[in-house]
Amino acid sequence: MKIQGTWYRSLRETDEGAIAIIDQRRLPHELRWVELATAAQCAQAIQAMWTRGAPLLAAVGAYGLGFALREDSSDASLANAYDTLLATRPTAVNLRWALDQVYQGVKALPEGERPGAARAIAANLCDEEVETNQAIGRYGLEIIEQIAAARPGQPVNLLTHCNAGWLATVDWGTALAPIYMAHDAGIPVHVYVDETRPRNQGASLTAWELANHGVPFTLVVDNAGGHLMQHGLVDMCIVGTDRVTAQGDVCNKIGTYLKALAAYDNGVPFYVALPYTTIDWSMQDGLAEIPIERRSDEEITHIWGKAATGDVIPVQITVDGAATGNYGFDVTPGRLVTALITERGIVPASEAGLKSLYQAPATSTGTAIP
Ligand code: MRU
Repeated sequence: MKIQGTWYRSLRETDEGAIAIIDQRRLPHELRWVELATAAQCAQAIQAMWTRGAPLLAAVGAYGLGFALREDSSDASLANAYDTLLATRPTAVNLRWALDQVYQGVKALPEGERPGAARAIAANLCDEEVETNQAIGRYGLEIIEQIAAARPGQPVNLLTHCNAGWLATVDWGTALAPIYMAHDAGIPVHVYVDETRPRNQGASLTAWELANHGVPFTLVVDNAGGHLMQHGLVDMCIVGTDRVTAQGDVCNKIGTYLKALAAYDNGVPFYVALPYTTIDWSMQDGLAEIPIERRSDEEITHIWGKAATGDVIPVQITVDGAATGNYGFDVTPGRLVTALITERGIVPASEAGLKSLYQAPATSTGTAIP
């Protein structure tokens, strides 16, 4: 990830045995790194959205389980921390995948070896994730190249929802990785960024990321996508995802489904970028089976922003006591998705498509072992 010309990862180990992450609640107004050194701190950072995005949740969760073992490496501590961390955010399946990796990797070890092994698994998981995202980027780049080749000299207009960039991962992002690679390759790209109410991950995070990398973008309100597509202003939509079922249904930030519907109606290709860790082989029907996170009233009744004083404050935007329905995610049926862009290639959002790239695990909580 590039911030004013310097590359960082959004998670790094510190010399003191903690991890440093960005407190994303402060962006775009302040780049504040915070250190997490215990499982409780990791759980708090995930639940309260200091850190977020399905792949990054996985990385923080993995380190969190390791931190728990550092304090107490017994079976009981392992099980307890696993459950606590898993409960923090129910929709993104990558968190469960990462906790499973650590759990399975240390369970049979003597207690004294568990903390070191957990740390190594977490570090390896981060390195692997970066490579995975780069591979997703290269496949997605091919699609952008094809669109650009058909319209020489004109920018490729993309639309994205929420934040599936490097802030949502250890590096590169998923949906934004192809965009960064296209931009770096000299292909003119322009991104319509949905603001993404209620937490405004588009306005606060994606816009900040793109600005720091020098990618041209236009921030639009969540309801603008249909209008843009009706007027031929979007060449392709590309989003990330928090869980894809075995039959190719896609769960992502609330509002994604409406963009997919608009894209379908207007013949605009709608792509979903994901690593294998986002596939939940234990589920088929996304609508019926994926748990949709419900969050606090305050995320809807208030908006956070920078006041004229420079302070970042919440502002109430509705009547006192308004009833809210804060659904964090929705499910887009695979039939509305043009294709899935994975680290192994581009396939239809269907069981056949996924199985052409991956072997479904025989047993497990559902995440494929590559
Ligand atoms: O609630 P958030 O901000 O964690 O939601 C994030 C998203 O919905 C992303 O699009 C998704 O996690 C994919 S990130 C590569």
